[in-house]
Amino acid sequence: MEQVLARTLPAAEIVPQRLHAAMRYAVLGGGKRVRPLLVFAAGEVAGTHADRLEIAAAAVEMIHAYSLVHDDLPCMDDDVLRRGKPTVHVEFDEATALLVGDSLQSLAFQLLAQYPLAHDAHKQLEMVTLLAVAAGSRGMAGGQAIDLASVGKTLSLPELELMHIHKTGALIRAAVMLGALCGELSAAKMAKLDHFAKCIGLAFQVVDDVLDAEASTATLGKTAGKDAQQNKPTYVSLLGVAQAKALAERLRQDAQDALDGFGAKAQRLRALADFIVLRSF
Ligand code: IPE
Ligand code: IPE
Ligand code: MG
Ligand code: MG
Ligand code: MG
Repeated sequence: MEQVLARTLPAAEIVPQRLHAAMRYAVLGGGKRVRPLLVFAAGEVAGTHADRLEIAAAAVEMIHAYSLVHDDLPCMDDDVLRRGKPTVHVEFDEATALLVGDSLQSLAFQLLAQYPLAHDAHKQLEMVTLLAVAAGSRGMAGGQAIDLASVGKTLSLPELELMHIHKTGALIRAAVMLGALCGELSAAKMAKLDHFAKCIGLAFQVVDDVLDAEASTATLGKTAGKDAQQNKPTYVSLLGVAQAKALAERLRQDAQDALDGFGAKAQRLRALADFIVLRSF
């Protein structure tokens, strides 16, 4: 995956060099790569080739990396540390960080359009639409808007769930569905995968909230304790750490149950669901 990302990003020598260097800085050399791994694991279930999956995986990771660069900007979470390094706007400057996000988003869609990824053009357009919805105002960007509008407020549990499903769940779901769409699966199996993806997508952000409260900056590679400091409503602020962990555990179980009937091919998806909930960083 590291090699695919390094290859699909513009070289740092190409004009404008500073923007390309910043894009590479944002994407390469860090991150758990959970979304690309989900693309590959879902692709394994649907039976397809690595050369399709690696492009879909790169596209999703570029959207994710862009979301992190913008999430860290002073006008959003105002963070100085990401993936163990200074954030893009600290290492470069704010305008460059903005443009890195813009450019990574465009590049993601360029990749989805440029390479043959699906059985036919109609299905490939479905993939483009899927990622667009997941990244946009009805997905990640919309979730970020809810997040910013919620600072200092006490949300109800359904409101908090809505925020998390959008800001984080949408892109995780897109990773799973894109991997599956690179291959062939029955509508019934797609529906089961969709349910699996929704469970782990929500669980991912619940665990992110727990780690923000419990883990160290050194372990996370990003500033710990930011949510409480910035008065963000989270599963920890609403339920406390113990109940937040219990919810993540229930979601892990639901996700595993959704894979019943998939057999040994779903081994990697199962392992990723476990990792997402049991991880310590
Ligand atoms: C962090 O995502 C932001 C959220 C959506 C919670 P990750 O925890 O996947 O960050 P990286 O990619 O490993 O740095
Ligand atoms: C970020 O949520 C979600 C997106 C980047 C879309 P957070 O603000 O909790 O992510 P971290 O904790 O900074 O990684
Ligand atoms: Mg944020
Ligand atoms: Mg943040
Ligand atoms: Mg967080």
